[in-house]
Amino acid sequence: MPSTRSIEVLANAADLFHAAAEEFLRVGRAAIGAQGRFTVALSGGSTPKALYSLLAANYSGFVWNRVFLFFGDERHVPPTDADSNYRMVNESLLTKIAIPAENVFRVAAENPDAAAAASDYEAQLRRFFELGSETRPGDRPGEFPRFDLILLGLGPDGHTASLFPDSPALDEQSRLVAANWVAKFNAHRITFTFPVLNRAAEVMFLVSGADKADILRQVLEGKNTPPLPSQRVQPSDGKLLWMLDEAAAAKLTR
Ligand code: 6PG
Repeated sequence: MPSTRSIEVLANAADLFHAAAEEFLRVGRAAIGAQGRFTVALSGGSTPKALYSLLAANYSGFVWNRVFLFFGDERHVPPTDADSNYRMVNESLLTKIAIPAENVFRVAAENPDAAAAASDYEAQLRRFFELGSETRPGDRPGEFPRFDLILLGLGPDGHTASLFPDSPALDEQSRLVAANWVAKFNAHRITFTFPVLNRAAEVMFLVSGADKADILRQVLEGKNTPPLPSQRVQPSDGKLLWMLDEAAAAKLTR
């Protein structure tokens, strides 16, 4: 089933996060009903924090013990750092819901060796999704995990997860997780690669605020050469959902 792209525009940020929470739970209930578990990769940055807080505040009774949480990307900092995506998610969601610790898969970004942190996280994914390692005979190299839901954001330069324009990980086609050097931050980021993003059953972009209006129009309506990283998110057999508020969608042709 080729990917279907749908765009939902909500009147304001509050409505956006409510609709995103409903979609999160809709996909979760369907996955748990069908497979007994819900696998989801969370996004970082500032936008999704309100969604995580809403899930914690209004849906603490959800079957969190059937939810398996991963991170689509992480900054190369310890989990106590103010820049840590894990810290943001922990404070806004994990500490407020009854999710077993073993259901949360964190990037060990405190490891000073970013490549080792990325390999370790890839090994965690391979173990969880029973993909085996790349080396042992009979294993399933070249297979990618299929998340039920991957949350993504949109950066001002068109990046998503930590796949930035002109960065090395854009061309990664075999690894699940890459340590991506981001020149403008003079730092590595640990990020899912496009094959993982495009293998998901559903990818939900969450974009809010007028400061995203220009880049959003470029991404959704523009022809860029090369394509912006966010434009390369095209699930091969899944749903692509853009959840926007009016302020972010203000410059779209409708
Ligand atoms: C990160 C994110 C990144 C984010 C965008 C948008 O670790 O920063 O995963 O891809 O989604 O940069 O960030 P804002 O939501 O803060 O605008």
